[in-house]
This record gives sequence, structure tokens and C-alpha cells, in this order.
Amino acid sequence: MASDQRKKAAAEAALAHLQRADVVGVGTGSTVNFFIDALVSIKGTIDAVVSSSGASTERLRRHGFEVRELNAVDDIPVYVDGADEINRYLQMIKGGGGALTREKVIATVSRRFICIADESKRVDVLGQFPLPIEVIPMARSYVAREMVKLGGWPVLREHFTTDNGNVILDVRNLQIMEPIHLEQTINNIPGVVTVGIFALRPADVLLLGTDQGVETLSAA
Ligand code: 5RP
Repeated sequence: MASDQRKKAAAEAALAHLQRADVVGVGTGSTVNFFIDALVSIKGTIDAVVSSSGASTERLRRHGFEVRELNAVDDIPVYVDGADEINRYLQMIKGGGGALTREKVIATVSRRFICIADESKRVDVLGQFPLPIEVIPMARSYVAREMVKLGGWPVLREHFTTDNGNVILDVRNLQIMEPIHLEQTINNIPGVVTVGIFALRPADVLLLGTDQGVETLSAA
């Protein structure tokens, strides 16, 4: 089965995890695009959506969804998003699409985080995928030097500005043995807006698209 078919199957399986009249948090990326397209089939039962990026907002509006500001919403029962890597504890690397800050805020606000991914995203140890870090532009060299001290090889993502007007450093060569500790350490570097480790707020459920079908996994 092609990767896109596995993503689509995982995305469609997420519909069964939504309740009637939910406000649904919507992530960003190619797997989420399949989810948004599938969400159309139950549009009448969804109260509103909260979006994690300009790209998802545009797609949602094109499908006729009411996209609410996070500040206008008290409670998000469920958030659906993809991942670049995910381990057995459902800790993730995210931010390949550059939307990590808004994704992390909405994931943290939400009561339940459903991760949708194809099986290529499943890893034993996070860090093979370059770790995205959103940084305010004036701090990029300083933060890059701090990442070198941590053993990483930072590269500025070229020709890319986040929805928040910041830049992204993609950091290679990290074997993330203690995701919570590294997330806290990088969060504490001045100039860092968000690090793409989602360990303090992991997913609650992983819907993994495989050649054998969609597996439903909880944290080990
Ligand atoms: C965007 C993300 C995405 O969830 C992640 O990059 C996975 O994307 P895709 O579904 O296209 O593989 O974190 O910031």
C-alpha cells in the first residue's frame, strides 16, 4: 500500500473518535489534509473547528467549516494531528510543516490528542527526523550555537517564515533518549518559541496506517 493510502486510512479512522457537537482541533500536514477532506462527510455534526495553521484554515474554509479563534473557545474535546516521528510512549517530533507552535498550543488545550500517521513515522528513539525549533529571528545564531553544545547540527530552514513571523532551525544528529528533559532544556533557551518535541503533551491515541489496516495504539 502506498504511503498516501496509509495516511488516508488513518485519517478516516479518526472520524470514529469524534463526538457529536464537538469543537475539533485540526493540525497541519498531508495526513491532516486527508482528515479535513473526510471531516466533510460529518460536517453537520461538528460545532466548529480550531485550526493550527493558515494552510489548514484555508482548506477548512474552502470546505465550508466555521473556523474559530482559539481565544473564542473554552474547551476543545479532541485534537487531530499528524507527526514526523512517534515512539511507543506516543511522544513525537512535529513541525516538519512548520506549524509546531500553534499545534503545541492547541494540543495542550485539548482534552484528547489523536495522532494520525502512516507506519513509517513509528520509531524506537526520536531524533532521526531533524528536530524543528521555532526561533525569533534575532536569536537564531545564539540558539544554533546552543544546539551545537547539545550535540546537534542546526540548519536554518531556507525561504521559510512561520505563521508567527519567526524562523525555523532544523537540528540533525540528536538521539533523543530523554524527550521530556530535552524538551524542557530547549524550551529554556532564550529566543526559542517552541521546540518540536511533544513529550510533555504526548498523544493519547495513535491511529497508525499499515499495510494490514489501521492499528489503534495507546501509550506503552
Ligand atoms: C506540521 C506537522 C505535521 O503533523 C508533520 O510534519 C507530519 O506531516 P505529514 O502528515 O505531511 O507527514 O507537525 O507542522
